[in-house]
Amino acid sequence: MDYRLGFESLDESDEVVDAPVEVDGTLPDWLEGSLIRNGPAMYENGGASVNHWFDGMAMLHRFGFDGAEGEVKYTARFLRTAAYEGMREGEIRRSEFATDPCAGVFGRFFSYFTAPEPTDNASVNVVRKGDSFEAVTETTMPVEFDPETLETVNVPDELDDLGELTTPHPHVDPETGERVNYVTRFGRKSEYRVYVENDEGVDREVIAELERDRPAYMHSFGMTRRYVVLVEFPFVVNPLRIRFGDGTVAESYRWKPDRGTRFVVIDREDGEVVASPEEPAFFAFHHINAYDEGEEVVLDIAAYEDASVVEDLYLESLHGEPPVGMPAAEIRRYRLDTEDETVTGETLHDTSFELPRLRDDREGRAYRYAYGVGHRNSPPEEFPNRLVKFDAVEHGTTVWEEDATYPSEPVFVPNPEGTEEDEGVILSVVLEPAEESSFLLVLDAKGLEEVARCRVDRPVPHGFHGDFYRRRV
Ligand code: CO
Repeated sequence: MDYRLGFESLDESDEVVDAPVEVDGTLPDWLEGSLIRNGPAMYENGGASVNHWFDGMAMLHRFGFDGAEGEVKYTARFLRTAAYEGMREGEIRRSEFATDPCAGVFGRFFSYFTAPEPTDNASVNVVRKGDSFEAVTETTMPVEFDPETLETVNVPDELDDLGELTTPHPHVDPETGERVNYVTRFGRKSEYRVYVENDEGVDREVIAELERDRPAYMHSFGMTRRYVVLVEFPFVVNPLRIRFGDGTVAESYRWKPDRGTRFVVIDREDGEVVASPEEPAFFAFHHINAYDEGEEVVLDIAAYEDASVVEDLYLESLHGEPPVGMPAAEIRRYRLDTEDETVTGETLHDTSFELPRLRDDREGRAYRYAYGVGHRNSPPEEFPNRLVKFDAVEHGTTVWEEDATYPSEPVFVPNPEGTEEDEGVILSVVLEPAEESSFLLVLDAKGLEEVARCRVDRPVPHGFHGDFYRRRV
């Protein structure tokens, strides 16, 4: 078995609560709290199946660390959503990103976004709002869960009034605590609506509304102290035409490279667009970081040549025989001049780099280190197979790799006593197909040396995103 083990479906018999995990190595005594991760874990059941990595049923995973005792416990539980309940009964009931529930019966594209059948399968990320925790995806239907038991607490039955599509990557300003995100509202005149709320997710205020005939697919965005930057890739949709067409959401977006990629720089204070320069077309899922430097915005992003990666994440491609696999993104830096309204771009490093993370307090600030997954070789292997630390000052990389293993998004946890940016550990769930299991890898963030590996007696499916939450004292 190879990396495709991570795309095999689990079911409820695989759920587990506080299973002890064997720790090989010594965990830092300050590592106390929970790594909570989200990702798809059921792609087929009882004759029903989905088409795309994004469409598998969400499972939450928690690795609980108890600090001085040095013990680790693992909990995994499916989110109990309407999409999940359907799948459990062998039916696709909600329109997923690339899977139709029942061709010709529902309004297809609009059934994904509009009542009564948008998907509530919140399989992409985890967001903390004050004391509550939410599993989130791209539809505006966050699902609240209990961070200890991972039990589903509340499933919304309709979309947010503000809009239908959002990003599972809100930014939290490390100084003000403000949480910023945007939604796309589809209609005769579609709009991006950028909003800010407090860290508990209330007092929401729309700070900018931008009309678009052809909204772009943007899975994340950039934010600095002063600006929000929407990078509009030319992967766009005509909501009116496809309302009556016959494609899923994924099929309805079109790659229009002639449009170029536009950087829309929005002032966080007054919502004004201060610049919107263009570059030749490229695509990305993930921004790495952005920050102000004088009148310039420096924006780092994990860039693909085009949007074909969306095709490459179909299960047919990832899990088929032979697998086609994923392309590699590279690290690019764009400098946006807010006075001249120009942009210049360069490749900072051509190493394969995805699922980028950095220290929370470096969000929107000048930074030195980012961590991600990558491929070892070029052309890339079918699936990311190493961890990469990128030095954005020296433009160098440090890697962790081990034969036939597949690490997840690396989450940085700072040493609370530390003073340097990379003083802390990296947590990544690594799939080891030969052992038919996974382990939680703990690396010293400085040199990516192994500190401990915590064996889970089972394979953990390939997931997307998560975060570490310190135990509240
Ligand atoms: Co993402």
